[in-house]
Order: sequence, then structure tokens, then C-alpha cells
Amino acid sequence: MPTTKKGRCPRRATWLSFAVVALAVVSGAATTLDQSSVAGADDQPQVVFHTSSNPAPTQTATGAPTHVASAVQGVQRSQQELDQEAEAARAYKQAIATLSALKPHPSPQHVFDALLATSNDNTNSIFTSFLPNFQGQGPIGSAIRIILKLHHLATSRISSSFSKEGLGLGSKKREEEGKTKAIKVMDLLEHSADLGNMDALYTLGVVSLFPPNHHFELSPEIAYASFSKHASQTGNATSQAYLAFFHASGYREVVPVDQGKAQLYYTFAANGGNKGAQMALGYRYWSGIGTQESCKRALTWYGSAAEQAMAKYLTGPPGGRTLPQTSTRLSDLVGGIYGPGASVASTGVSALRPAIKAGVARAAGETWEDVLEYYLFNADRGEIDFAYRLGKIFYQGSIYASAGGIASGAEGVGAIPRNYKLARHYFSAIAHQVWPHDPPSTVQTKDDNRPIGYAAASAAYLGRMYLRGEGVKADPAMAKAWFARGAEQGDRECQNGLGIIYRDALVPGSRPDMKEALNYFDAAANQDLAEAQVNMGKHFYNRGEIMKAIGYFELAVRNGSPLEAYYYLAEYHSAQATTPNLPPHITSSSCSMAVSFYKLVAERGVWEDDLLRDAEIAWMSSTNQDKEVAMLKWWLAAERGFEIAQNNLGYILDQDRSILRLTRFSPATASNDTASLALTQWIRAAGQRNIDALVKVGDYYYHGLGVSAEENETTRLEKAARYYQSAADTQMSALAMWNLGWMYENGIGVPQDFHLAKRHYDLALETNAEAYLPVILSLGKLYLRSIWHTLTGGKNGLNLWYPDETETGHSGDTKEIDGQSGDDTGMETKQEYAEEEDGPWYFGRAKEEFHRRRNKQSQPLVPQGEEDPISWARARRDAERERDSDFGPEDYFDAALQGNREDVEFDEFGETMVLVGLCLIISILIYIRTRIIERMRREQRDGEQPANQNQGNQGNPNGVFPAPGDPARADWAILR
Ligand SMILES: *[C@@H]1O[C@H](CO)[C@@H](O)[C@H](O)[C@H]1NC(C)=O
Ligand SMILES: *[C@@H]1O[C@H](CO)[C@@H](O)[C@H](O)[C@H]1NC(C)=O
Ligand SMILES: *[C@@H]1O[C@H](CO)[C@@H](O)[C@H](O)[C@H]1NC(C)=O
Repeated sequence: MPTTKKGRCPRRATWLSFAVVALAVVSGAATTLDQSSVAGADDQPQVVFHTSSNPAPTQTATGAPTHVASAVQGVQRSQQELDQEAEAARAYKQAIATLSALKPHPSPQHVFDALLATSNDNTNSIFTSFLPNFQGQGPIGSAIRIILKLHHLATSRISSSFSKEGLGLGSKKREEEGKTKAIKVMDLLEHSADLGNMDALYTLGVVSLFPPNHHFELSPEIAYASFSKHASQTGNATSQAYLAFFHASGYREVVPVDQGKAQLYYTFAANGGNKGAQMALGYRYWSGIGTQESCKRALTWYGSAAEQAMAKYLTGPPGGRTLPQTSTRLSDLVGGIYGPGASVASTGVSALRPAIKAGVARAAGETWEDVLEYYLFNADRGEIDFAYRLGKIFYQGSIYASAGGIASGAEGVGAIPRNYKLARHYFSAIAHQVWPHDPPSTVQTKDDNRPIGYAAASAAYLGRMYLRGEGVKADPAMAKAWFARGAEQGDRECQNGLGIIYRDALVPGSRPDMKEALNYFDAAANQDLAEAQVNMGKHFYNRGEIMKAIGYFELAVRNGSPLEAYYYLAEYHSAQATTPNLPPHITSSSCSMAVSFYKLVAERGVWEDDLLRDAEIAWMSSTNQDKEVAMLKWWLAAERGFEIAQNNLGYILDQDRSILRLTRFSPATASNDTASLALTQWIRAAGQRNIDALVKVGDYYYHGLGVSAEENETTRLEKAARYYQSAADTQMSALAMWNLGWMYENGIGVPQDFHLAKRHYDLALETNAEAYLPVILSLGKLYLRSIWHTLTGGKNGLNLWYPDETETGHSGDTKEIDGQSGDDTGMETKQEYAEEEDGPWYFGRAKEEFHRRRNKQSQPLVPQGEEDPISWARARRDAERERDSDFGPEDYFDAALQGNREDVEFDEFGETMVLVGLCLIISILIYIRTRIIERMRREQRDGEQPANQNQGNQGNPNGVFPAPGDPARADWAILR
């Protein structure tokens, strides 16, 4: 009885026939019916027919034959509808129960693991290799070492057996079970959806698009069909947003790319309140994808999305919901798209970013487990500074903190499992050294003999945890007591915490005390605490003192405030952008700034759907399907305008096999589709101020990758040159300058011009000293070429004897280049997306210009970063080592072998070489000595066997040693 497939009519017919049969055999109706229906429903979930067939016999048992048929039909129809609904709900519930009972993938606790660290297996962590040394030699040391080894073996065994999805029988059985469950879930969902359960339909779509584990199949077709039906029947915004994505991206060619339809669905979804769709729509209006560019409209949509993010933020505990951790560019972990040195991402101030540092640490073989272990080891030895940092790491759930204080959150690249309990353990241990009793104790004594050290900062964390109920029950009074202790010592986080408590009257029975609150906020703000500056700003903002407020918000942004300050600044600029009667250049720049800031807020406030983080986790897992899901999530996020997602998608799909980077993930053969998708992502990322991506776009045009077939060779290369030019104009990418120099040298895409070539090579060197070797080689070649060119009668060769006119001022240079290339080629040097008069606008430019205007002292854009816990630990360890350096030579070898600490390494290397040299000399001397002794012994035996001595002499005719009997031999005898 295929009810699920054919719908209601067949069912109704069956029911009717049941009724007739029931009339015919009134007596034994119940039992036979039951049996026959069960027999007919072999392929149905059994429960279905038991429950729904029971009413039939009772209905039919009474009443006259003629009325019965219609009565039964009527009653049964409504009954049946009810049943259907109940049945659908039941099936949906069962499916959800099964789904949530599924063991999730052993989700990687540490987001960035095995895959990105180069050959993780054979490079051992500096920290772990060091750990056992602390234990010295004795039996305890060995025991600890063995235990550590075993522990490592066990954990790696477990993780590898997880990743290989099973060896042995137990896992095979589990595999079967998992498969069955997956089938069960899909079947129940389909069944329920067929019966009209809309939630089931939606869930079916989600499960098909994002398989919960590898037993489920990724099926975009089913997902599309489900969302399509769901959207048309319920007008659900989430489903519409998914449909929009399918149309915008042409994902897996489920539907052809149709930007019009995408725009339509995005608009519906955005109006329905879907934040992702609002961001996507904002991004499309901003960059003119599938629609006319319009800053005003972008502003509207990004404004709504940011508003949602802010609303969510404010629903959190006092001080706002904990921010999601930042996401990571995959390319940063390997030093940028072009690798370390050649990429803008890893040169200059960018090299200080945590993602780059994490990449370096990973490449050196560190795993976060090892780092944690090292910290734990030292913290448990009673090292206060380790304990404090460890508490911080556990509190923020990441090795790396973001700049700007506790409220700024942490960097996802260092993610470890957050653990409030352990954090509290370490913070209390530190605080209790100074304040031996917890606050409620009336013995409020401070141990004056102990230095404060980290105690005040720990008190800030403890207070914060009590204030927000993190790992403990929220207790504002307790929080206040801890804050008061720390504030007394001038700790800025404590002052800010007290301010919040006074402002919001959080202690039961108190009244808001704004004056007191402002005192504390002001004290903390004066210590450059971003959150306190935001709180000051908010106070003035609410009082209508806008300019004063804006001043505080701008300060806060500079000190690293990641969310609220941007939101208020955006509100301010947004108001300015929509004010009538202002000159257009002011409204347009206000609009751009507001959009940029709203975008930042909307992208950071992703509590409910953190696509980037989910994608990172999926990418780190082992199966191909998970990688596919990761790609899909990045793609979804890229459509919403996340630059990091665009960068990551471009990076993993990269088709450019330039010799500068060995592409790791790209398929063996380049495919045009993939290349054009990658190119699209690079272009979009480049539009958001990713300069490496801009160079990449140049590369794609240069190699003709993903470029439309109509493009002929000439125009393609000209475009490549133009992209390189605009990347070079940023004065940040040495690679772009070098490429451009090469194109001028060879006359590719631009007219041949040795002077310009030289100028670009020189600029590359000026920009990045690491480009020294390639630039010198290129310059040498250029001179040779130029000489040849001149010798063969060419004009405009380089003059070897006088300095080129390029060696004048730097800033004048680039302008000149701009002008010249424009004159020479007669083509526009401006970018395609350079609509504004004053150069191309990109996301983040508003922020940059804002910083430039604000920071008269041209402070770097990256706010003062937090210290790097890994290098800190290394420095600590090295210092310790130095202190105990009378260990003897074995330590020198140890140090030399471990490497990776540039300057120290160099010193130690030198010392090691001296030692090695000394050893060599000693062994040579010893060797010589034994030789001499041997020879003397032989001499003694000479009388018996003179032939032997001859041979010996022949074997070493010009030997260093004087022949026996030579008077000089006496000199050598000293050695004896
Ligand atoms: C769309 O439907 C899903 C599933 O029924 C629901 O969770 C979600 O809240 C709906 N979204 C909107 C905007 O109504
Ligand atoms: C890819 O593009 C190249 C150059 O335009 C073309 O020759 C080739 O046939 C294309 N391949 C596919 C699979 O479309
Ligand atoms: C390439 O196209 C440009 C304009 O589209 C044209 O002027 C030029 O002659 C073409 N070159 C070749 C080699 O076809």
C-alpha cells in the first residue's frame, strides 16, 4: 500500500474498501482487519497502521448499511486528516530524536590541526621535547617520560582510529548502525514531509545540504526541492535565502545561475528578516552584483543585519554576549597566498597578526595540545605567570586573545575547548595568594606581604565570571567584591566592571548610580580599555552629546573594540548619510563609512549561524564530504560578503600553479569552471582590500585561467598588467611590482620599457627587503638585455653610468609611473571597480581613511596586539635555560638541534660549532697519539719483522709524522 508515494486518493479508496469488507464480516471484523492491514503495509513503519486502523472497526460496528458508507467516509476523512497530522508530527519527532541522538563526528577540538601544519608527525614540539628534561635523569623522570609517551600514543591512536572511521569489528558494527540510522532519519523525514509537515520538509532540506555525518549523503537536489516547496508553501525566509544562494551560485548546477532570481529571493528573504539574506543583499548592492550599485540600499540592508547582531549581543549577560571568535584565512596559516615573504599578508605589520604567528608556530611543529601541556606543567609547578596566562587561555577558549581587553574576545585560530572551571581554578589560586579569603568572608584581609602581581588581573576575571555567571552561578555581589579588590589596585577591567554594576544597579536592592559609574568608566577609559571607552561613549550618546560620544567610540575602535563602537559610529554616519541638504561628497563618504562599519558588526555578530567557524571545523575533518560541506559553507558566507570566506574559497580552489607556491588543494587538472569560480572569489576578495588576491587576479588574467573565452590574448595581458599595476599602487606588494617590472622588461601587456622595468624592480626591493635575491638577478638580466638592445641599435636602453632618474623621491615615483603608463598605452590605469574620482574604493577603506584622519601620528592600523603566548613561553623557557646553563655540553647540542629561535639560535649555533671544532681537534690529536704509540710498539718489534715497518712507511710516505729516527720526532713525543 504505497500511501507515502501516491497521496490521499489511493488511501481513501483503501479505507472505503476496508469499510465495505468490515460491513460484510461484522463479527470477526476487528482481528481480521487488523491483520490484513498490517500485511498490506509491509514497507510502512508498522506503528502507522496500528494506530490509524483501530477506529475503523468501531465506527463500522454500529449504524445501518446505507448510511454507513457516507458517514464512515466523512468521519474518516476528518479523522484521517487528524491522523495524518498526528502521524506526520510523530514521524518528525522521531526523526529529530534520532538525529539528535546521532553521535556527532568526533569534532576536532582544535580547529587547526594536522592538515595545515606541515608534516606534523615527524616534527616534534619544542615544548614536549623539552618537558621531560625538567624531570632530570632519575627514575621518576623516566617514569614521567614513559607516561607522557604512552599518553601521546593513546591519544594519537584514538584520534587516528576516529579519523580512519574504524578498524576492527566493533566499528564495523557501529558503521552499519550509523547507516541504518541515517536511512531511518531520511525516511521518517520524507514520510512526514509527504504528510504535510513543514518542519520536516525544512529539516529534510537542511540535512540534505549539510549532512550531519558521513552516513548521510550530500544531496543538493533534494535540498533545493525541499526548500523550494517549503518556501512556496510557508514563505519561510530561511528557505528563500537558501534558494537565493542556489540561483546566485549555480551550486552543483542544481539550477542555472540566474542573478535576477537570486536577487528576487534574497529580497523576499531579507524582508522576511533573514540576517544572512540581508547581508547578501547589502553586499550585492554595495558591489553591484546582479543589480545596480547603490550605497543607500546597501546601507539599509547592512543596517538591518547589524541591528539584529546588536540585539542578539544585548540579550547576553551584563557586558554583552560573549563574542564569537574571529575566523581565519587558510592562506594566513602558510604565510599568505604566496607564502611567507612574498605575500602582503605576512609582511610588515601584518606579520604580527595572530594567524600568521599561529602558522609559524604550527610549521615549527607545535600543536595546541603541546602548548597547553607545557603551560599546565608550569602552572601546576606554581609558576604564577604561567598560571595566569593559562587561566586566560581557558577563559577565552583560545591561545590568542584579541587586542582591546577581555570583552574583545579571542582569535579562532588558537581555539581550544573553553573551560571556565579550570580558568576559575587558576585565577582563584593566584588571587588567594593576596586575598586569602573569598569575598563573603568578613575577614577581608589583604596579605600585605605579597606582591600584587597578577592578583588584580585575576580578580578582574573572577569578578567577570561572577557577574556574567560563567562557570558559576551569577552573583553580582560577589562580582562587585572581587572588582572592588582589583580596582583598589588600579586594575582597569575591575574599574570597568564596577562601573557596569553601578550603572545598571546589578546588585539587588541598589539604585543606579551614574556618577559613581562614570568615575570608574573614566578611570578605566584613561587606561585605554576599549570597553570602558565604549561605555563612556554610550553614556554621552544617550544624553545627546553626540560629538563627545563619537570621540570616545573612535578611541575605542583604535584600542580594539570589535563590535559596539563600530555600531554606534555606523549609526552616526548613517544618520549623516541620510541627512538632506548636505553636500554629496559628505553624504557619499558617510554612507560608505556606515556600510563598512555595519558590515563589520554584522559579520562579527554571528552567534546563531557561524558559517566560517563551522566551515573551518568541517575542513579540518578527514572525509571528502566534510570538505565539500566546508566549501559550501564558505561559499554561502562568500555570497554574504565575508572577505575571509572569499579568500578561503579562492584559495582552496586555486588553479594557478605558479612556481611561487605549490598549490596544495587544487585538483590535478585545472578545470575552467573551478578556475572561473576561483577568479570570481579572488576578484571579490580583492575588492575588499585583499592585495594578495588582487595580484592573484592579475595572475589569472596573465595565465588565462577562468577568463572568458572571448578575451583575446592582447586584452587579457593588458588587463593582467592593469591588475598588477593597481596592486603595485598600494605600495605594499613587492610581488606585483616585480611582476610588472617583468612585463615592462619583456613588453608583455605593456610596451617594452627598460626604464620602467628597472623602476619597478627597484620599488619591489624598496617595499620588501626579502625580495633582494630575485630583484638583483632580474636587474642583472635587465642590464644585460639593455646592453644587447643598445648594441643592436635599439633606443632607450638603460644607462649604466648615470643613476636612473628613478632614484629620486619615492612618492613622486609612483605618481610618475601612473602618468607614464597611462600616456604610453593610452589605456585607463584605473580599476574596473574604480568608480569614484579619488581612486578605487574598497571595503575597509573607510576605516582606513578614518584612522588616517584620526591618527595624526600615523600609528599602524593593527591595534597593539596582545602578546603571543607561544613566543612568550619560548622566551621564558630560554631565559630559564640560560639560568641553568651549567648543565654541560649536552645542553648545547640540545639547543642547537631545536632551532627556531633566530637570534638565540645563531649564538648557540656558533658555540656549538666551536665545540664541534674542539672535539674534532681533540679526536685528531688522540688519533695521532694512538698512531704514534702503535708505531713505537712496532718499532720495538722491528728487530723481528723489518718488512712490516717498510710497508708502514710506504703506506704513509709523506705523512705528517717524522720518520722514526728523525730528531723532530722528539717534539711529538710530548703527547705521551
Ligand atoms: C523557517 O522555518 C524553520 C523551520 O520550520 C524555522 O525554524 C524558522 O524559524 C523559520 N524562519 C522564519 C524566518 O520564519
Ligand atoms: C577551458 O578553456 C580553454 C581555453 O579557453 C578551452 O580550450 C577548453 O576547451 C576549456 N575546457 C573546458 C572543459 O571547457
Ligand atoms: C583583440 O581584441 C582587440 C579589441 O577587442 C582588437 O583590437 C585586437 O586586434 C584583437 N587582437 C587579436 C590578436 O585578435
